[in-house]
Amino acid sequence: MKASRIIGHRGLASLAPENTLVSIKAAAQHNIDWVEVDASILGDATVVLCHDDTLERCSNSQGSLLNITSEHLPSIDAGRWFSEEFSGEQIPTLTKALKLISSLNMGLNLELKPQEGISPQKITALIHPTIKKHWSSSKPLLISSFDHDILRYYRQLDLEQPLGLLYEEIDSDWHNTMQELNAVSLHCDWECLTPRLAHAITAAGYQLIVYTCNDSSAAKELWGMGVNSIISDTPHLL
Ligand code: G3P
Ligand code: MG
Repeated sequence: MKASRIIGHRGLASLAPENTLVSIKAAAQHNIDWVEVDASILGDATVVLCHDDTLERCSNSQGSLLNITSEHLPSIDAGRWFSEEFSGEQIPTLTKALKLISSLNMGLNLELKPQEGISPQKITALIHPTIKKHWSSSKPLLISSFDHDILRYYRQLDLEQPLGLLYEEIDSDWHNTMQELNAVSLHCDWECLTPRLAHAITAAGYQLIVYTCNDSSAAKELWGMGVNSIISDTPHLL
């Protein structure tokens, strides 16, 4: 499984409210064939697309995701903060997002967010069945997380699933962790990547994926370093 060269960040976050169905559709409309979205958990164990563990930044509501349930979703506006034209857009459940992405024939990088108040093991146990039920194993799916314990639990539940290790800064133990988790890709902040590290990662046979690059000349340099995929808010411009 190889990710596309260009991956839309949170859908197509520069043109539509992040982590919503309309953002995923916007990516498809711009011929972006892979999206990255973030998975988080609500108080009733519903898995939704949301980057933060609180509602303030990306909706008209407040407080922790763990204080709401799926029943609250229809009354929360997750589009208007971005622009009036997206008023009424809802925080999607992971189930709805998987069905849409699948119907659009897109590849998916699902980032599992660590969340205060819920253990890595529980996060994994809640998300894994939803994926098994609503995503065909023949379609491209890459699961990533900054929380490597989440990935450890995921690996225990699923020996085959392609996993990607997310790093803010790559530590000296990256190769051991990649091997331990049988991961296929390493994802890092493009601004922290050096040519030497890029070479070491790709020479070891791993896909190298960087986030979140919105600058065409930087992207050219990254391709030159051997980066395989770029996650971008402006994938249509790269
Ligand atoms: O998965 C790459 C990127 O999305 C990680 O950072 O904070 O945008 O989820 P963040
Ligand atoms: Mg993300």
